[in-house]
Amino acid sequence: MTSPLTLGDPALDQDHAHLQELIAQLFDARPEQAASSLDALRAHAARHFAVEDADLLAMQDGNAKCHVDEHAAVLKSLDEVRALLGGETMSAEARSALLRRLAVHLRDWLPEHVQQMDAGVAAHRSKRRFGGAPVQIVRR
Ligand SMILES: [Fe+2]
Ligand SMILES: [Fe+2]
Repeated sequence: MTSPLTLGDPALDQDHAHLQELIAQLFDARPEQAASSLDALRAHAARHFAVEDADLLAMQDGNAKCHVDEHAAVLKSLDEVRALLGGETMSAEARSALLRRLAVHLRDWLPEHVQQMDAGVAAHRSKRRFGGAPVQIVRR
């Protein structure tokens, strides 16, 4: 069975697999690893979203704005959680619980986003790679 994260675009598939790994690491992070784990996820997500956003800009598909907005919303949530982690008021248990909730949410979100939204980007990239040019059959 194909993974719900596999779209057949090597670069996107690799990025999504790495996102999944970083989400799993966030879930398992010990309290002292929490901030660095969240920062690593934030950095990879931002790089990956920037790649897709550039394609979405070129596509001018009806769904593009919604897709770009969703990327921005995810980064905003990560930043909000990061700001909470930086505060003095949270206990270690509360921080761990918050990160696990975030990780579970992202784990559920990722395959859905890939299938519902990124699939369109993968199709666009494939069309661009192969130029949409018809196959030429030359008679001898
Ligand atoms: Fe993606
Ligand atoms: Fe996306």
